[in-house]
Formats: sequence, C-alpha cells, structure tokens
Amino acid sequence: MESYIKSADFFRGNDPEEIAKTYGTPLYVYNESIIRKHMKAVAEVITKYPYTANYSVKANTNIHILKMALEEGVNCDAMSIGEIRMLEAAGFPKERIFYVPNNVSEEEMQEAIDRGIMTSCDSLEQLEQYGRLNRGGKCAVRINPGVGAGHHEKVITAGKKTKFGIAEEDIDTIFDICAQYDLTIAGINQHIGSLFMDPEPYLKAVANLLRIARRFPNLEFVDFGGGYGIPYHKLNDEAEYPMEDFKARLVPILDEFVADYGSAPLFKSEPGRYCVAEGSVILGRVHAVKQNAGKKYAGTDIGMNVLVRPSMYDSWHDIEILRDGEVVSRDELQEITVTGNICESGDLLAKDRMLPEIKRGDLACVLDTGAYGYSMCSPYNSRPRPAEVLVCEDGSLKLIRRRETIEDLMAYM
Ligand code: LLP
Repeated sequence: MESYIKSADFFRGNDPEEIAKTYGTPLYVYNESIIRKHMKAVAEVITKYPYTANYSVKANTNIHILKMALEEGVNCDAMSIGEIRMLEAAGFPKERIFYVPNNVSEEEMQEAIDRGIMTSCDSLEQLEQYGRLNRGGKCAVRINPGVGAGHHEKVITAGKKTKFGIAEEDIDTIFDICAQYDLTIAGINQHIGSLFMDPEPYLKAVANLLRIARRFPNLEFVDFGGGYGIPYHKLNDEAEYPMEDFKARLVPILDEFVADYGSAPLFKSEPGRYCVAEGSVILGRVHAVKQNAGKKYAGTDIGMNVLVRPSMYDSWHDIEILRDGEVVSRDELQEITVTGNICESGDLLAKDRMLPEIKRGDLACVLDTGAYGYSMCSPYNSRPRPAEVLVCEDGSLKLIRRRETIEDLMAYM
C-alpha cells in the first residue's frame, strides 16, 4: 500500500499540516469511523450464543473513546480502580464493567465490591482476600491455561513464564476456598497474550478453557480474553487479522461445549488493541536531520514518552512522511533512523528504516498508535503528555484531550 492515510482517508479532507499547526505536535489524531468500525466488528465475534465483547480499556482510556464503546454496545474490562472510574465517568453502568485486576490491595478490591462490579481473582490468595472481604459473594477466577501467545515475551500472559492466573492443578483449591467463604464462581476468564495474527493458538486456548469450564457447575460466563492483532506492516501489505475465518472456526468449538455442558453461558472476549490501534496516528515534527558515523538520523518530537512501544518491545510502527500536508512518495527510499527528543539512546521510533528523504520541518506520521499509545505515555524528561484530537465521522475536528502543561506537572509539588 502506497499510503494508509490516503487510502483510509484518515484525516477526512482535513490538512494534516493545518491540524499540526492548530493543535501543536506531538499530537495523537484519532479517526472516529475507524474506531467504531472495529468496535462493531468485535461486538459480532459470536452471534450464535449469548456474547459480549469487553473492550479492554488499558489500550486507551480516552473518555470519548469509552463513550464510543458504550454507544456501540461493547462492554469493558478494567484493570484498576482508575480505569473503573474512567468507565463510570463515560456512563458505563456496573453491569457492563468486568474488573480483571492483578495483585490488588484489600482497599482496591473493596472499592470494586462496594461498587457491585464483577471481579476476577488472579491467584488463590486474591480469591481468599475476596472471600474475607465479601463472604457469600460471587466472583470470577482467572485461569492460566498453560499456553500463551503474543508479539513479545513481555506481552505473553499465560503459560509457565508469566505471573498471571491460577494454574489448572490448583482448581481443587479454588473449590476449597469457595467452600470456606461461601463463594460462588460466576465465571472463568483467561487472556493468553497480545497481538497474534494467526487465530490457531487462541482457538486452542478457547477449547482448553471450555474443557476446564466443565469442572465449574452453573457458570454465568466464560471469557476467552483478547489479543487479536492488527497489521502493523500495512505499508508492506500485511493482511488483516482473519476475523471471518476465526469466527467460523470458533462456532464448532462452542457448539461442542454447549451440547456437553447443557446450556450456553454468556461468552465474552476482551479485545483492546483490535478496537483502537488502527484508529490513530501520531503527528510529530522533524526538528533536525543529521549524519552520524555514516548513518542518517531524523530527530522528531515523538519521544519514547509519547510512544514507548518501539523502545519497550522493539515494536514496528509504519511511518509516513508529510511535507506541506502531502504524503511524500515512497518511490525512492533511503535508510534512516527516526528518533525522538528524549535523553536515551533507546529513544528510537524506527531503526535503519527505508523511508523517503526526510527534511527538517516535515511531519512524521506514525501509524497504528491508538492502542497502548497515549495510555502508556509518560512525562519523562518533564515533557508534558501530548494532546489528542478526534476526526469525527462528519469530518469535523474535536480536541478530546488538551495537551498537558508544565504547570500541570508542577501541580503536585
Ligand atoms: N485482557 C487482559 C486480561 C489483558 O491483560 C489484556 C492485555 C487484554 C485483555 C487486551 O489485550 P489486546 O487485545 O489489547 O491484545 N502494551 C502492550 C500490550 C500489553 C497487553 C496487556 N494485556 C503493547 O503495546 O503491545
């Protein structure tokens, strides 16, 4: 693909140079239609049985995006009281929030219990804690199915090398704790990891969780987790996650379980990235181009504090270069390393990347930044977090989060 922002008409006729001038850089720019399209798609992963998609809000908690999920009939999963509070502020009722925390204090767990939010316990000790706090209550348990998948060791969340979930061999102890505190297990959940393009490991994990589910009587829900990938190499024509094929292959696995179990619990999934990743780009200004020991560097204002994924996981994000609002052609490419403005050698957006010639004053447009972009921003080097702008369905622009200021950073002192 020559240009994603052109083929998706990402800016809906707005001039990106004007957007950058109006709102400043670095700037997260979202496209409402693309986000809603993905939310609609996840809402239909299962149609034959009762099902809800839970948007995993850790990917992006901008309240305007949460409101889109609310409107598209997507429920949400939250990892912290902060995320729960954001969801409440967006208008989510407690029934539409699933709390899937990890190693939380009694105080934090109590807050969720007081709010009446269904909580998943990630270890036997957290289950006991739940029992102490809410004797006679109803909760879920997160199972570690023993196999994981994902784009990097750091995002594989099941299997033998991760902190997450309760191992299958400990299931008897779950029942002992339930008996001790008179608890009911309403649901079981898992999440094998993040960003896979081949549905096979997920389908296997679904079958595996359903095998385990047979040990739990009267489950209200079974949650298979998220992780569906998006094509980060779209300029090289990487294919999309095969959603239709995945959906078709899921049905017989569910059929077999429902026939065996005698009823269909509510099935859930927890996609984060898939809902929002492709619906955002970052616009950043190129402030300096230089040669160093024969290598060409383009220095932008998109530091690792703005987008940490490349530094943290060596993640790939396609980059388009814009000059005077127009996409620079990729007919002639040269090797360039694109960096940010943070005082770390690891502050790299793209290493030795084949890109068109970059000049000072150009805009770097980094693709697929809607998931784990802003939500992982930091004010490292005392650089305030960027602003976020939404290209609405009607083409109008809306500031959906103002740029942080240095005064904001000083406000806690
Ligand atoms: N459910 C649970 C329990 C999770 O831990 C996660 C992600 C999700 C759902 C959503 O996964 P998704 O559909 O977005 O892959 N920061 C990393 C990803 C970390 C994911 C952590 N858990 C990245 O930028 O690639």
